Amino acid sequence: MYPVWEVPHLTAGMILGLIATFHMMPVYLSTSAMWFAIWLESRSVREGRPDLMDFVRRYARLVLIFSYVFGALSGVGIWFAATVAAPRAISGLIHNYVWGWATEWVFFLIEIAAIYVYYYTIDKVDAKTHLKIGGIFALASWTTMIVIVGILTFMLTPGRWPSTGAFFDGFFNETYWPQLLLRTTSMFAVGGAYVLAVAASGKNERVRVEVVRAGSVLGLAGIGLGGLSFLWYSSSLPDPIRSNLAALMTPGLRGGMIYPTALLALLFAIFAAKPGAARPWAGAAALALVFSGIWSFERTRELIRKPYVIPNYMYSNQIIGGDVPSKGVSSELDRINDKGILRLAAFVPDELRTVTDANRLRAGRMVALIECSACHSLQDKGLRPLPERIRRLGATGPDDVASVLDSLGGIPYMPPFAGTADEKRALAEYLLSISK
Ligand code: HEC
Repeated sequence: MYPVWEVPHLTAGMILGLIATFHMMPVYLSTSAMWFAIWLESRSVREGRPDLMDFVRRYARLVLIFSYVFGALSGVGIWFAATVAAPRAISGLIHNYVWGWATEWVFFLIEIAAIYVYYYTIDKVDAKTHLKIGGIFALASWTTMIVIVGILTFMLTPGRWPSTGAFFDGFFNETYWPQLLLRTTSMFAVGGAYVLAVAASGKNERVRVEVVRAGSVLGLAGIGLGGLSFLWYSSSLPDPIRSNLAALMTPGLRGGMIYPTALLALLFAIFAAKPGAARPWAGAAALALVFSGIWSFERTRELIRKPYVIPNYMYSNQIIGGDVPSKGVSSELDRINDKGILRLAAFVPDELRTVTDANRLRAGRMVALIECSACHSLQDKGLRPLPERIRRLGATGPDDVASVLDSLGGIPYMPPFAGTADEKRALAEYLLSISK
């Protein structure tokens, strides 16, 4: 196993989540923007309205800079953060999906080339060719989504992969199509928010009004169809995930998905009816709503995966907890219970390999870091803080805490404790000490 990246209060997963949520902003812009730009550009050609191209140029510039500088940087950030937060899970995914990512990167390269060519050839090549360049960009960008959704959904519902180990059995899993539709429709809602943001600051009154109205209608359609796809997506979730959802969903997260979406729909409705009233703040507000909606949605998606990073295979703390016969992988739990997590994990200081009277609390902390810190803060405040959780259970002695540890495996969203009796005792004493 690998060293643990301990992020006080937040956990490593939250850092990853923050970067990933930010990443969705430029990504959804790039996948959705060009469809709107092409539509507007062909209208400008058809109706002889060169003034519309002023918006197209500014919109394409935003895509170029925001998506391909900030989107690319945050994409690399996800890889860095994920590799440090969950190296073993990333390794498992790479071993299965390296060709998936390779395919995605090919389309990504096409996208980058196409947006540069598109932007710098506005008014320089004939309209038909220019629209074709836009079409290449739009398709390449959407294809990256088609590919990545296979890997993202695999991490929640691996389909028939555990028994066959075949690439496409995991890729086209039970939530693939609903999630692809959900992301495809909601990307237009996000695209609409960017249209609002760019168009509202336009100088030409007529263009501003027309484009704000069209963008708002697009946004409304995206939200409406996105809502329907969400229902399909929810109904495609398998039972264990549904019960996780029932157990772990908080009012904050539910509200975090519903309210921003409803407010965004309201904003679009207002500006579809009164496009002349749109000002730059409206665009900023729309984008802030998008960000908070995505945050809650992605957090929920992460939450319902628990206790796994890869279902029935690897727990969030990166212990392999299930057999995947097709890949020759078997659960490590028996071996860890027999030999000890401190002995088997690679990056444990030598003096903590065996629990002694002198190192009990430090050994216990090491076990907590390895087995619990992926989902719990060890500090008093933060994400599901363990001191508070132990206190809440009213444990008074190490025996009480040890019996809590025994019960972890029976809770559907938590991995079982893995380790020797000595390690369990040391962890219990450590947890008790921080809860006081
Ligand atoms: C896969 C993520 C994950 C891991 C790893 C994990 N937990 Fe949890 N734990 C949760 C979730 C989710 C909850 C329930 C939500 C909450 O309490 O906020 C929870 C709740 C708890 C609770 C409160 C239970 C209750 O009934 O109120 C305790 C105690 C606890 N965990 C201890 C531990 C210990 C000790 C470890 C390490 C041996 C650990 N957990 C590892 C996710 C995890």
